[in-house]
Amino acid sequence: MSTSACKLKVRNLAKNFTLHTLGGVRVHGFSGINFSLPKGQLLALSGPSGAGKSSILKTIFRSYLASSGSALFCRNDGSEVDLATCSESRILDLRRREIGFVTQFLKILPRVSALDTVARPLVEIGVEEAEAKARAEQMLRRLGIRPELFALSPLTFSGGEQQRVNIARGIIAPKELLLLDEPTASLDAKSSNTVLDMLAELKQQGIAMIAIFHDQNKIDRIADICVPVVREQ
Ligand SMILES: Nc1ncnc2c1ncn2[C@@H]1O[C@H](COP(=O)(O)OP(=O)(O)O)[C@@H](O)[C@H]1O
Ligand SMILES: [Mg+2]
Repeated sequence: MSTSACKLKVRNLAKNFTLHTLGGVRVHGFSGINFSLPKGQLLALSGPSGAGKSSILKTIFRSYLASSGSALFCRNDGSEVDLATCSESRILDLRRREIGFVTQFLKILPRVSALDTVARPLVEIGVEEAEAKARAEQMLRRLGIRPELFALSPLTFSGGEQQRVNIARGIIAPKELLLLDEPTASLDAKSSNTVLDMLAELKQQGIAMIAIFHDQNKIDRIADICVPVVREQ
């Protein structure tokens, strides 16, 4: 594999939390994380609860500041940006265009319909509204959301329905690097399968992904690389 195909190179990434409100108590997040993620591949983070998996995604997205190490993001023009140390304005720019985060739980504004919630990322990149809504509708149908729900706010939806809206919104206009925190955690087998099919299609389009799954079967089916995260004793 040529190095130009690489999307992200993580070296010795570590995070400790210093709790200033508790007299500076230090809590171990994770340490010693190393991997290279090529374009079009999915890397799964596995490990027990509390091992630091979500914190790794948040550190790559720079919601958390790394304590040490680097996360080199490879842009299409061949330049590299260290997500652990780059400026805030650079990270905000990358989040707008190149790096997406599908969080574990749906966070949305009230009174916006499910259809508009999912169509929004397409409208933001310049897709005409009618076309964006048509594609959002197609995606929601594929994920098994009943059409009678399209005009309602997802705040009234079940946990599994909310998660499907969240995934649809996160992948309808996919950024080149997608971070997915337990995307199938509250889904039944059928919806999980659909989501895994969609992630496989994103790989075909060259999207690089880091995802957290608990189920080894899902990792075996979709992941190209698996990085176990161990909890420090
Ligand atoms: N903002 C935070 N402040 C303090 N400790 C945190 C914070 N976020 C995560 N942690 C701690 O880091 C460890 C790893 O958490 P997390 O990344 O959520 O694990 P996982 O996703 O693997 O279950 C836990 O001990 C957790 O309490
Ligand atoms: Mg987690």
